[in-house]
Amino acid sequence: MMKRILVANAKGGCGKTTLATQIASHFAAQDLRVLLADYDPQRSASDWLRNRPTGCAPLTLHAAWRLPLPEQGYDVLVGDMPAAIAPQAVWQVLKAGDKLLIPILPSPSDIKASLRFLMALNLPDLAGAGVEVGLVANRVRSNTEYTHTLHDLLAKMRLPLVASIRDTQNYVRAMDHGVSIFDLPAHRVRSDLAQWDALLAWLDEPQLSALPAHA
Ligand SMILES: Nc1ncnc2c1ncn2[C@@H]1O[C@H](COP(=O)(O)OP(=O)(O)OP(=O)(O)O)[C@@H](O)[C@H]1O
Ligand SMILES: [Mg+2]
Repeated sequence: MMKRILVANAKGGCGKTTLATQIASHFAAQDLRVLLADYDPQRSASDWLRNRPTGCAPLTLHAAWRLPLPEQGYDVLVGDMPAAIAPQAVWQVLKAGDKLLIPILPSPSDIKASLRFLMALNLPDLAGAGVEVGLVANRVRSNTEYTHTLHDLLAKMRLPLVASIRDTQNYVRAMDHGVSIFDLPAHRVRSDLAQWDALLAWLDEPQLSALPAHA
């Protein structure tokens, strides 16, 4: 069965394409057949892939912003959704067993817009539909006021934070060069790789709802 991971947040610039390309590249490095589904007519994920050096683990691009998804032929689908997307449009793409990742930046306007998006998505309904949601705090600078605000708020609202990713030029450069931190020499990105452990473990977990029920 194809593992499906969608990255979405109506808020622009929170790191959807960065996360999607990192994740796609991680699975490609494991020799899995990865389909990077670009739902964004601005095609940032497509631009990233176009710059990918030969020799990096290959992955396949799908212009999901204009074409329906192939049903099979891949081990992992990673979907990069556009900014300003309506919650119903996210619902239209989702299926039972999917993992939905929502990056959030620790700034007041990002937190507000992201909470609005989360409320409109309706997390209890998503859980009921068999979709597992994980939040990722992105561009985190430790010990800043809004990093604490974001962490406190997510904890208070019992929102599932699966990772905190730091703010570093490593991601900016990786985006520009068609690579991910998983393609770079480990000694150069060691602290970044460590921040991905929890997120990758969460992505690898089989969904409880997708497991066969006990007889
Ligand atoms: N952890 C990070 N550290 C530093 N820069 C980052 C990080 N994550 C993302 N960025 C930068 O922030 C900008 C926006 O990121 P990205 O394009 O991934 O966001 P997006 O949510 O896909 O945006 P859009 O809504 O326009 O599709 C990019 O320049 C990217 O390189
Ligand atoms: Mg994007």
